[in-house]
Amino acid sequence: MIPITRIIGASCDGLDTHKSKYFKMGLSKATNGLFKPITICDPFARNCEWADPHTNDMNENTKAKHHLDALEFLKGYPSEYFDLVLFDPPFSPIQAERRYECGLENIYTQGGYLSKVYFECARILKVNGKFLKLGYNSNRPHSSLVLKEMWVTCFGGNRNDVIMSLWNKEQTSILDYSHGIF
Ligand SMILES: C[S@@+](CC[C@H](N)C(=O)[O-])C[C@H]1O[C@@H](n2cnc3c(N)ncnc32)[C@H](O)[C@@H]1O
Repeated sequence: MIPITRIIGASCDGLDTHKSKYFKMGLSKATNGLFKPITICDPFARNCEWADPHTNDMNENTKAKHHLDALEFLKGYPSEYFDLVLFDPPFSPIQAERRYECGLENIYTQGGYLSKVYFECARILKVNGKFLKLGYNSNRPHSSLVLKEMWVTCFGGNRNDVIMSLWNKEQTSILDYSHGIF
C-alpha cells in the first residue's frame, strides 16, 4: 500500500504550478525537505526555477534557461546524472493546444512521443533518484520506476483533479535501456 493524500486546491493556483501548496508538498517529499543539495531537471519548466540551470520550456517567453523540445533537451544529458526529474507537461491535448499554445503538433499527437520522453527521464536519473509527475493519471512512466506516494488535489466545480505521483528509480539492468539490441 502506498500513501495517498487528498488536498483541497486553491482556485488561484492558475498556471504557476510551482507556487501551489500541493507542488511544494511533493517537492519537499521528493527532496527530503531540500536538506542536501541535489541536481534537478525540469523539461517543461515554464517559470519554475527549482531546477535552475537545468530548466527547459519550448515557449521562449518563460524563465526557462533552455527553449528546446523536451525530448531533444533530455537527450543532451548523460545517463544517471540527476537526483530528481520534475515532470509537469500540459495535462491533455486540449491544454497543450489552447492553454499553452503548443499547436496541433504536440506531445500527445506525435506517436510514441511521451514514451520516448519517459525513457529519457529514467535514463538520466541516478539509481534511487526521484521522478515527480503531475497530470491526470498515475500511469507508470518506465519499468525502472516504482511508485512511492500520491497526492490528489481537488479544485471543485467542473475542474479535473490533479494527480501528483512520486516514483523511485530502482537498480536497473542494461536490458531496460537496450531498445531490444540484446
Ligand atoms: C504545466 S506547464 C509547466 C508549469 C511549471 N511546471 C510550473 O510549475 O509553473 C507546461 C509547460 O510545458 C511547455 N511545453 C509543452 N510542450 C512542450 C515540449 N514539447 N517541449 C518543451 N516544453 C513544452 C509549455 O510551454 C508549458 O509552459
